Amino acid sequence: MLTGRRVLIGIGGGIATYKVCELISQLFQGGAEVRVILTEAATKFITPLTVSTLSRHRAYTDEDFWQPTHSRPLHIELGEWAEILAIAPVTANTLAKIACGLADNLLTNTVLASRCPILLAPAMNTDMWEQMSVQKNWQTLQQNPRYQGIGPESGLLACDRVGAGRMAEPAEILLSIQSLLYTGGKRDLTGKKILISAGGTREYLDPVRFIGNPSTGKMGVALARAAVSRGAYVDLVRAPMEIKLPPYLHNIRSIPVVSAAQMEQAMLEAFDRAHWTLMAAAVADVKPVDRSPSKLPKSALPSALPLEPVSDILAKLGDCKKPHQLLIGFAAQTGDIVKPALEKLAKKKLDAIVANPVDRSDAGFGSDTNQAILIDDRGRKQDIELCSKLELAHKIFDFVKTTRLKS
Ligand code: CTP
Repeated sequence: MLTGRRVLIGIGGGIATYKVCELISQLFQGGAEVRVILTEAATKFITPLTVSTLSRHRAYTDEDFWQPTHSRPLHIELGEWAEILAIAPVTANTLAKIACGLADNLLTNTVLASRCPILLAPAMNTDMWEQMSVQKNWQTLQQNPRYQGIGPESGLLACDRVGAGRMAEPAEILLSIQSLLYTGGKRDLTGKKILISAGGTREYLDPVRFIGNPSTGKMGVALARAAVSRGAYVDLVRAPMEIKLPPYLHNIRSIPVVSAAQMEQAMLEAFDRAHWTLMAAAVADVKPVDRSPSKLPKSALPSALPLEPVSDILAKLGDCKKPHQLLIGFAAQTGDIVKPALEKLAKKKLDAIVANPVDRSDAGFGSDTNQAILIDDRGRKQDIELCSKLELAHKIFDFVKTTRLKS
């Protein structure tokens, strides 16, 4: 998602600047062309040398802005060059300037001289962040579709205060940059309510033993991230999963469940208001007939465990689906992935299915990448080459959007 893409980073002056070094390094390693502007205050925290070494390109400061030039003005060149501008950390001062349209340094002039999407990752002391003036500026920018905000997180701040104001983690900012590069900042799913299931359900035999599966939840969470970055509202029914979802991701309602029965109840409750439902969770197909309330001693464990099937949640949703709703299933397969996926598509009354191999180390359970064949109920098929789960999530939404103009 990053190869050859032109990413401009703006760095404000705050202690969080040191974290931006990691972001710049990740962007470069991911194949992006990276340019960096430091405000004068930012240069008090990190040097242009650090940034230029990591980005493999000279870093720009206000000194460059005021240099006589024989070419076009620097802020115009950079503004036209950038496919995305990510400002991290955004200080209260830079936020106020951008909200008012002020331009008194290289960074704020470049904001006005560019048309690309802008990602803002604020960081400051909690009292500063909570000031009415700062919140007003933040809201003003949030209402402008050109700007997307990320964070701030709550936690221990460098001023010893515990509260809101920590900059979002570099890995989170990187994911938002990738989504914005994919969409070009378009919020084409605005108004859509999307229900997503993720993770792997567990069926407990006793309080410490369960039947489960290796699902990490990465695909379901990637779908949720992609959906909200495109303007949708997401209900995420999440079975146990390895990855954490940052609390500041807007427009995601997280509904934790453990067993298939809990997932079924949560999905049925949320299904009515969903335009699209994507069942990415790995549901354990069976459960122990008996569940012991206390831990069974080893000697009491049976040599054969009596099991019973759990209900097929997706098939139930297929049965109560209304004409304006789209229902998308997943088929994690080994060997031939298309035939069984087609059978599931028909049997569970789906509008589309994502068939993906789980017998490769770079796709399926736990991996950061995935490969898939998307198939809809009209027989339309699209092969998706190996890519990140976030990119696959975006491609799934592109496919679903054109599946049928139902909703
Ligand atoms: N699914 C479900 N409820 C279940 C089992 C599966 O909703 N009890 C959903 C999965 O979330 C997935 C789709 O059905 O979206 C296909 O799941 P998969 O495990 O591939 O297939 P199964 O229907 O369980 O059939 P089989 O295990 O025989 O391949």
